[in-house]
Amino acid sequence: MNSTDLLLYVDSLTKRFPQVTAVDCVSLEIARGEIHCLLGENGAGKTTLAECIYGYLRPDSGRLIYKGKPVDITSPKEAIGYGIGMVHQHFVLVEPLSVIENIVLGVEGAGIRLQLEEAEERLRRLCQDYGLELDLHAKIWQLSVGQQQWVEILKTLFVGADLLIFDEPTAVLTPQEAANLFIVLQRMKKSGLSILLITHKLREVMDVSDRVTVLRKGRWITTQKTRDVSREELARLMVGREVNLRIERPEQQHGNVILEVENLTARNDFGRQVLHGVSFDLHSGEILGLAGVGGNGQKELSEAIIGVRKVAGGRICLHGKEIIGKSVQAILDAGVGHIPQDRIAEGLVMEFPVSLNLILGMQDRKPFRKGMVLDGKEIVGFAERVIADFEIATPSTEQITETLSGGNLQKVILARELSQEPRCLVANQPTRGLDVGAIEYVHRKLMEQRKRGAGVLLISEDLEEIFALSDRIAVIYKGQIVGVVDSQKASLEQIGLWMAGIIND
Ligand SMILES: Nc1ncnc2c1ncn2[C@@H]1O[C@H](COP(=O)(O)OP(=O)(O)OP(=O)(O)O)[C@@H](O)[C@H]1O
Ligand SMILES: [Mg+2]
Repeated sequence: MNSTDLLLYVDSLTKRFPQVTAVDCVSLEIARGEIHCLLGENGAGKTTLAECIYGYLRPDSGRLIYKGKPVDITSPKEAIGYGIGMVHQHFVLVEPLSVIENIVLGVEGAGIRLQLEEAEERLRRLCQDYGLELDLHAKIWQLSVGQQQWVEILKTLFVGADLLIFDEPTAVLTPQEAANLFIVLQRMKKSGLSILLITHKLREVMDVSDRVTVLRKGRWITTQKTRDVSREELARLMVGREVNLRIERPEQQHGNVILEVENLTARNDFGRQVLHGVSFDLHSGEILGLAGVGGNGQKELSEAIIGVRKVAGGRICLHGKEIIGKSVQAILDAGVGHIPQDRIAEGLVMEFPVSLNLILGMQDRKPFRKGMVLDGKEIVGFAERVIADFEIATPSTEQITETLSGGNLQKVILARELSQEPRCLVANQPTRGLDVGAIEYVHRKLMEQRKRGAGVLLISEDLEEIFALSDRIAVIYKGQIVGVVDSQKASLEQIGLWMAGIIND
């Protein structure tokens, strides 16, 4: 590469944690005006590498050469000073304040004081240049997740970034929001910005990036021009083996109705009615895909089924027995499993060792409890089995959960819920944030649940996943089921139209 084209050279960077070498002598070149994807399995070291560049972590060895000079970046504040910005998966915005206030507050922290009006003028121009549709006076809590992400992006543009790092930006976005984000990324690239994009979605890599670097177990594997590689090759490079991106769904007779939802109504946390008479049934040995853009009542529906949300009306029957009003534990014991959408907040105690999180909710049952005490040997034995089974990357069963990588945290919950062999499984976005190898694994596991006769309600915004796994597809829009169709007879166009609320019959 011509040296004037080179923006950042990461030279032999190493970062060790007490138990693992997360980044092992990795070198990387980021050119001016390129979109560079960083790809790798859960735990490969992507976030760690990004955080070393952003000054959030200190590398043990190696150098950063930025605009031709070695730089020592010891804090995010310094990174921002150099023109390096990072958009994290979890935003750090102040909810009661407006967009402008959030952005200017951030800058004041960096030591520059600016008048609000002056800031507003510049922000308006930035929004125009990059095509961000954002009400600068709106309070953060009024914005969708996608718009909040734009605030984070604006924050970095406002202080003048040359390099923007995105850590799995689309994991929290709807498909439409993700498409919009990529249009914005292309505009940034055109105006000369460089982008380092961490993602698990191979389609995104193929669509937007100029080059892609693959990490595996902390090591650099390859850097290639995106147009020279295929999705299948990238999957293989990441995981180190062939990955089957297609799922087998053998013909299978469905059994009795397991779950029956009738005319269900419910309100959200703010008291607004979000389920308006939802009805469907789910059979044994069936995967019912529930497609829909996020925020159309999916979360409240799954919470109502597992008993954590009070319903306003209607019926939910498990094997013909009403379960509304029963305790969460009673519903769990009756054989309902749940993979929550926000797994980290709802499903894990971060300070616990991995082994305890793997049996959370089962701790009062055999074989884990012996009389009054927990049976440590049983728990560790069980944990060792599922850690191996689900390929959870952790140095030991007793590792504190907090230190696991994002995808491995998710695997802990999946492993726990699937190992209980539920009769009815409510899986809310089960593969969000997982690498291709892990997705293949989860899909196989869901098919196994179907095979052994469980009913699976698969809630997903990923239409590819819905089509590949489901026997029938239902679409939820504004708290109503707008259509149910046999997946063999469904077309992508029709489901897409239903998801947008366009019903043509
Ligand atoms: N603070 C920490 N203490 C100990 N180990 C850590 C810490 N942070 C990360 N690790 C370990 O470093 C390795 C790399 O983690 P990292 O978060 O960089 O992975 P990743 O590629 O971003 O994965 P994912 O796709 O799951 O987000 C993992 O084995 C992880 O458990
Ligand atoms: Mg990560």
